Amino acid sequence: MDSMPEPLPLPPAPSRLPRPRAGLLIAVLLLSFVLGLAWLVAGQWQTESSRAALEDLRARSVRLHHLDTLLLQMLDAESSVRGYLLTRNPVYLRPYQEGQAGLEATLGALRADAWTDEGQRETVDHLALLIDMRWSLLTQAIERGVPPTAVQPDGGTGKQVTDDIRARILTLRAATQAEIDATQDGAFARFADARTMNRVLGASVLALLLVLVVVLYRQDRLRERMAQLLHSENERLHTEVAHRTQELSSLASYLTNAREAEKARLARELHDELGALLTAAKLDAGWIVRTLPADSLAPLRGRFDRLLDTLNQGIALKRKVVADLRPPLLSELGLVEALRALPDSGDIGEHGGALEIDLPESLPELPPPTALALYRIAQEALTNVRRYAQATRVRLRLRIEGDELELTVEDNGVGFDPAARGDDRHGLAGMAHRVQMLAGRLDIDSAPGQGTRITARVPFARMH
Ligand SMILES: Nc1ncnc2c1ncn2[C@@H]1O[C@H](COP(=O)(O)OP(=O)(O)OP(=O)(O)O)[C@@H](O)[C@H]1O
Ligand SMILES: [Mg+2]
Repeated sequence: MDSMPEPLPLPPAPSRLPRPRAGLLIAVLLLSFVLGLAWLVAGQWQTESSRAALEDLRARSVRLHHLDTLLLQMLDAESSVRGYLLTRNPVYLRPYQEGQAGLEATLGALRADAWTDEGQRETVDHLALLIDMRWSLLTQAIERGVPPTAVQPDGGTGKQVTDDIRARILTLRAATQAEIDATQDGAFARFADARTMNRVLGASVLALLLVLVVVLYRQDRLRERMAQLLHSENERLHTEVAHRTQELSSLASYLTNAREAEKARLARELHDELGALLTAAKLDAGWIVRTLPADSLAPLRGRFDRLLDTLNQGIALKRKVVADLRPPLLSELGLVEALRALPDSGDIGEHGGALEIDLPESLPELPPPTALALYRIAQEALTNVRRYAQATRVRLRLRIEGDELELTVEDNGVGFDPAARGDDRHGLAGMAHRVQMLAGRLDIDSAPGQGTRITARVPFARMH
């Protein structure tokens, strides 16, 4: 990479998502429920009142029937007695003789009837007395053997009682008929009310159902739109994240390359400039020592020795710094030799455990970035072992696996949880990035107390 990437743009504000109107739906549902309940209660009430009206009608029809039967039984008995008295044939007397039980049964049923009107009940009681009386008169007439009309032209007391009985029965009958008519009218009026109410409630429930369907349809559309919006928002974020990851990745690559270039430049300058200066100073000092007469040198001998020693230390320090900045042997002898010399470089220092090195005899020439990346990974992994692992055994291995080059640094130390790495620790992240730049992959196998194995795999075929 030659230039720094552009600064990252701020993401646009997310678009407002429409909100479904749940309140309206709940209101419509509640109203439908209330109307449905009202319809149910009204239906129940209609059924109950119709049943009551029908029962009322049936009871009153039975009453009418009893009244008619009573009058008929009375008149039957009378004509039976009259027939007997005229013919003296006992056959005519049979309806009279058998009629009393029937009359009493009909009167009993009428008395047991649920009369709501006190006057009507009294009329029934009175009717019973009149029938009793009429019955006695008929019995007397049979005993006397003379019909009352024979002595009294107006028919006498018997006829009056019979007329009274008939009049009372007809009065009761008319009243009952009037009640029947009133019940029927009431029932018809209630039917009309019920029909209107059913129409109104039915139309309201249908209208609410329509509203419900419309609301649900609109909510469904709204949900669909929201899903679409969310989907496109997700897509946008996904693209944004991918874009930014790509930017960060190229920024990291840029920084890694820039750091390596800077290190190489520094190493070159230290080696060429500082190295030349120190060497010249050492040569000059040596020349002075060799050239000065012995008696003039004697008092200065100690100082000159110290100066030469200091210059030697400076040269050694320069060599170490240069070696750290630009791995020695890497460009001259290749990755295998550079890795073999790695434990000797003061950079890694003592790791405290036995180091086992397993490297191939030879390796085809690798592209410099690949060799440098694998070297740096091994360097960082061994530094980590020294700093944290407290291992007794360490293994550095490089091998060709199929079309991959595989570098492994393994220790039997304290291990760690790879998922819990801190933000300010960049060693492992740097390794991963270097491998990623080469289209390879890094595996970190570790757990507390179980040692650590770092494996970097990079495609090998591409390097030929
Ligand atoms: N071989 C190892 N054994 C035990 N712990 C390790 C080992 N390698 C790494 N760790 C743990 O993983 C952490 C992260 O390591 P990493 O190299 O990423 O960061 P660092 O060494 O702490 O800092 P930096 O490398 O940036 O100077 C370390 O702090 C250490 O706790
Ligand atoms: Mg580290």
